[in-house]
Parts: sequence; C-alpha cells; structure tokens
Amino acid sequence: MQPHQLNDEIKTLLDLVSRKTTSLTESIMEMPVANYSDPQIFEQERHELFRNQPQFVGPSCLLPEPGDYYAFADTGIPVLVVRKADGSLGAYLNACSHRGAPLGDGWGQATNQRLLTCPYHAWAYDLDGNLAAVPFGDEGFTGLDRSTAGLRPLQVEEKHGLIYVMPNPELRFDINEVLGEIGPAFSGFGLDNHHYLGVKRVETQISWKLNMDTFHEFYHFDALHPETIAQMSYSNVCHYQQFGRNHLMSSPARSIHELEQQAEQDWEPRNHMSFVSYLFPNTVIFVVADHFQTWRVYPVNRDKSVVYHSMYIPQPPANAEEQASYEDYFQMINDVAVNEDYTLVEKMQRGINSGIERNVIIGRNEPGVQNMHRQIKECLASTA
Ligand code: FES
Ligand SMILES: [Fe+2]
Repeated sequence: MQPHQLNDEIKTLLDLVSRKTTSLTESIMEMPVANYSDPQIFEQERHELFRNQPQFVGPSCLLPEPGDYYAFADTGIPVLVVRKADGSLGAYLNACSHRGAPLGDGWGQATNQRLLTCPYHAWAYDLDGNLAAVPFGDEGFTGLDRSTAGLRPLQVEEKHGLIYVMPNPELRFDINEVLGEIGPAFSGFGLDNHHYLGVKRVETQISWKLNMDTFHEFYHFDALHPETIAQMSYSNVCHYQQFGRNHLMSSPARSIHELEQQAEQDWEPRNHMSFVSYLFPNTVIFVVADHFQTWRVYPVNRDKSVVYHSMYIPQPPANAEEQASYEDYFQMINDVAVNEDYTLVEKMQRGINSGIERNVIIGRNEPGVQNMHRQIKECLASTA
C-alpha cells in the first residue's frame, strides 16, 4: 500500500471507530462442527488443498542470495525452492535421484552458492537441478545417464514479493489467478527487502482450520486478550477487503486518535494500524509498525497442526542489543498466540473430538473467518 492509500485506510478505520462498527457480511454463517472433524473432509483437504493447490513459501526476502534455499515437507510432498544465479527461482521435488534423501531441511545455503549436496552419499546438483557430481561414479554407477538423473522440477512463481510453489509435479497454476490482485495491496510493505529474523515452529493439538480461525477476527481481543493485544488495539473493528480467494483486513491501534490532532502530511499511518492478510489456503501475513510476520499452518492429522511463525524486520540488527530486542519481541508475540489463543482453542478441540453434533456460528462481524471457510468449501467442491 502506498502512502496515500495508507492514509485512506486510516480514515476508513477512524470512521469505523467513531461509529463503533466494523466491516460486516450479508449474513451469519452456520457450519456443522463435523466440518472440523470429519475424516473424509480432512483427507480431501490434505490432498486437494495441500498437494494440488499452489502453496505460499515465503516472501521474496526469505531467499535474497543465489544458493539460498527453503525446504519443507509439511504438505506431504517434499519441496525445495532455491534462488538461482540469475536471480530467478527453481523448485524441485526434495528427493535425491540416488535413493531419495532430502537435500536440505528448512532454510539453508547451497555449497559455495552453487551446489545442492545430498547429505547421504554426497551426490551434488547444480541450482538448475542437474546432477553435477557422483562420488565414485565412474565405477559405482557405470551406465547411469546423468542427463536424466536430475531433480524433478516443480512450478514456482514469484510476484509482488510473494513466492508460491506447486507441490504436485503433474500440475500447473496461474499466479495471477492465485493472487487475485492482493499483490499490489502489499506494495510498500517490503516483502522483497526485509531481513529474515527467524522462525518458530509450534506444534498444536488443534485441527488446522480451527488454528487458522484464530487469526481472522478481531472480535475476541477484549475478552481473550484484555492485558495484551486489547491494550494496543481496538476489539471488533476491522476493514475487510477481498482479493480472489485471499483477503486483507486492517485494524486500528488505540493510538489512532492521535492522528486527528495532526496534519495529514505528518501522519505515520503504519504506527497506528495493523494488517492481517489471508493467503489461501493456509497462510496469514501480519503487517505491523515497521515489520511483518508470516504464519503458515499445516495439518498433522485430524486434530493436530503445526505452525511456522516467521519474523521479517526492516534491516539486519545493527548490534547484539538490537538483535536481542527483536528476538524478545518475536518471542512475546509468539507467547501471546500460544498462551492465550492456543491454550483456549485446544480446549475447544476437545469439544469437537467429543463427537457431539452441533453447529458453529460465524458472525457478520467475522468476515475473514467466513471467507476462509467459504473458499475452502468452494475449492473442495470444484475438485471433488
Ligand atoms: S540418497 Fe542422495 S546421495 Fe544417496
Ligand atoms: Fe487472539
């Protein structure tokens, strides 16, 4: 969002605050609780949403230099995305052609920025996925056609600072369709130029959709976070915008009123609101003040999910003190989610696991939660 758009966003939020209201949908949504627990729905989701739909990998600044890679297998298909020498990205099935070992796990760097080396027997691949070296190859692998023993390519796309990969090697996607114009809304947030501070992996006893629900409404701030988030942000106020399957929601900080006393050209709008964005199917990007965070949620089984919470700051910390202060802040945010949201939601999961049939009700003031469930349902219906 460019400066004038940020100012417009502030005006929209000031108006919502003054009228004590929020973006509203047409009607409430009711959904059987089995939607969170039905084994068939779960298997369909895991297969269609996580293997056959493009997956958000990270912002462009996750992989700034040639040889930087990110590898993950949480979709059920091991994937490795790497920055190549010409600045473009490559993506491969993360399985060595020899006996299938993954070439990396999480964030890493290729040997000398040039070679992806298998940890098992040290076969090495260049960043285009070609097999480049086989130790003891002349004798041990006589007759092997190296030209056909490269890594299996996957489709990867990068646009507006967002990286997406298709885990299923048989399928293709159109990045413009995937983004649905949410990309320009991120312009100015620095998805391509921030510094990657790190990631926290949290295992939860919560189904992946129940986990995602916690991020998509601002209705619970006063009740669940009275001493933390609600001290800084208004409860139940957000401006909702839809972009294809994705959405972007802005919400006001309590300090937003300070801007009413200032000339508009002096506003620093980013300090007085935050943004929560949903990227279908499983990602949340949280933009606040001078930095942003991503939360990627993956199913482990029907009632367990894992979250990768990553932090990106404007530039590398200047010294150890600055590093420690960012680390503390990162931990504090993670603690709020774990101690306040997940602790409660794990108890909700027990209610779901009880098997008692009932409906959940999603309010008109919870447009983000409604959208996520609607998009998942529509996607599954179109691929059934
Ligand atoms: S499995 Fe990779 S070198 Fe053997
Ligand atoms: Fe929360």
